[in-house]
Amino acid sequence: MQQTLPPGIERVLIDAREIAAANARMAAEIARDYAGLSIVLVGVLKGAVFVTADLARALADVPGGPTDVQLDFIAVSSYGNAHRSSGEVRLIQDTTHHIEGRHVVVVEDIVDNGHTLHYLRGMLGNRKPASLRAAVLLDKPYHRALDVPIDYTGLTCPDEFVVGYGLDYQERYRTLPYLAKLRPEVLPA
Ligand code: PRP
Repeated sequence: MQQTLPPGIERVLIDAREIAAANARMAAEIARDYAGLSIVLVGVLKGAVFVTADLARALADVPGGPTDVQLDFIAVSSYGNAHRSSGEVRLIQDTTHHIEGRHVVVVEDIVDNGHTLHYLRGMLGNRKPASLRAAVLLDKPYHRALDVPIDYTGLTCPDEFVVGYGLDYQERYRTLPYLAKLRPEVLPA
């Protein structure tokens, strides 16, 4: 049956089943690497809210993984209301955990030019965690400005402006259960 899409959405690029499979793959890798350890997942708000929650629950489904998975969040912004990242990252809300000595996995919805993850790796790395890795649902490598390491990658993002599953355009479309392409006429020329 043809799916009715909201106004502004051209087509579904990655459906909910593919997203869940990508989260399960990342969870299996994280579970293997942190077996028997306590970890903190640090979700990057707002975009990574759904992937952080789903990855945490997928981790709980893997036998023999970390002994303890704690959740924290950090909020940064680089896009503002624009559709291209400015490269200037602002901290809006810090973590609540003290991460010194902890095993930390930063969870991002997308890495595009790389400024946000580069900033977070620098800032969190300065706090002397026991280890610091990054899990990223969507790697969008086409416009990378900084070569930032990604330890766990869910999917490669098509070279499109993608919304849904946490990703927004001007705060809209975040709650769509799939990743979708915006109609070009929605974006400024
Ligand atoms: C988006 C996304 C990443 C970042 C990636 O966040 O959630 O955090 O941009 O872009 P980059 O690799 O080009 O730096 P945004 O600043 O739009 O805030 P949001 O998560 O609240 O939507």
